[in-house]
Amino acid sequence: MKKIFVHCNLTHKQEVYLSKNFEIKLHDANDNILSPEHLIEKASGFDGIICQGNIISNKYIEKNENILKAISNVSVGYDNVDINYATEKKVAVFNTPNILDDTVADFTIGLILALTRKICEGNSFVKAGKWKKNSWPLFLGEDLKDELLGIIGMGNIGKKIALRAQSFGLKIIYHNRNKLKKNIERKYSANYSSLENLLNKSKYVLLALPLNAKTKHLINEKTLSMMRKDAYIVNIARGKIIKEFDLVMALENNIIAGAALDVFEYEPEVNKKLLTMKNTVLMPHAGSASFTTRNAMIDLALKNINDFFLLGKCNNLVNNNLFKNGK
Ligand code: DGY
Repeated sequence: MKKIFVHCNLTHKQEVYLSKNFEIKLHDANDNILSPEHLIEKASGFDGIICQGNIISNKYIEKNENILKAISNVSVGYDNVDINYATEKKVAVFNTPNILDDTVADFTIGLILALTRKICEGNSFVKAGKWKKNSWPLFLGEDLKDELLGIIGMGNIGKKIALRAQSFGLKIIYHNRNKLKKNIERKYSANYSSLENLLNKSKYVLLALPLNAKTKHLINEKTLSMMRKDAYIVNIARGKIIKEFDLVMALENNIIAGAALDVFEYEPEVNKKLLTMKNTVLMPHAGSASFTTRNAMIDLALKNINDFFLLGKCNNLVNNNLFKNGK
């Protein structure tokens, strides 16, 4: 029986499914995300690992060379693994695409509304018993209708956000590695834009792109200074796409108007200054956090690893060139 290390909390049903064909070791990831060093210590000697956002270091892969054959991420993002290195060491990497797009898109619209209509601030105000007089002058916010939304990263999630944004009357431009075909652009009412133009013109700048060497710190002092003074930035992608220190400076100095962030450069640590700003809405990397979606993500990650070892199938393989030169 192949041995699988499960760095993720399973339901009883999921545990039964996996343990039918594998010898499994469960780690309570809800309580404790293993650091790269602890992962080497606790999760070495397994044929496969199911992981949830935790970093799979090259050292871990190297230490488990010729043993480890599969890394199954319970996430659509896979920036926690050096894909080139995994490919070099013949380790298959899987992810869980498509099933979380609607959940994340719903959440993103929620973040934008929370930020622009000051919903979190108002909630704290009422709960603190501070509502004593006329509410008319309180919590005045911004409208979405007729404003320009600039989406950076027009993948599955970006597109679902665009669909929702249309119904709020937002106008949409996008920047992406590849320009979409005309009929797809029409479907999402989205026009292609250079990054510079998007930053210059958008009232709402939305980050929905993957993290990689090219996108790390894409949003920095220089790019923030290209944005409108009344613009808001929304990050539902990965924290490291924004240089957090530069964002804090931009917010402190009114270079931009506000930020809604689901992800952080050094999460779970959050820059202390962001915590006290009125013009920020902060969430703990919860974009895909609905019961149904998170459960479906785990189901898929289990199926990916199950089908790989038992059926030789590569559903949702990230390193597509893994078998190019034979295995
Ligand atoms: C993902 O799937 O990449 C989300 O960030 C959930 O962790």
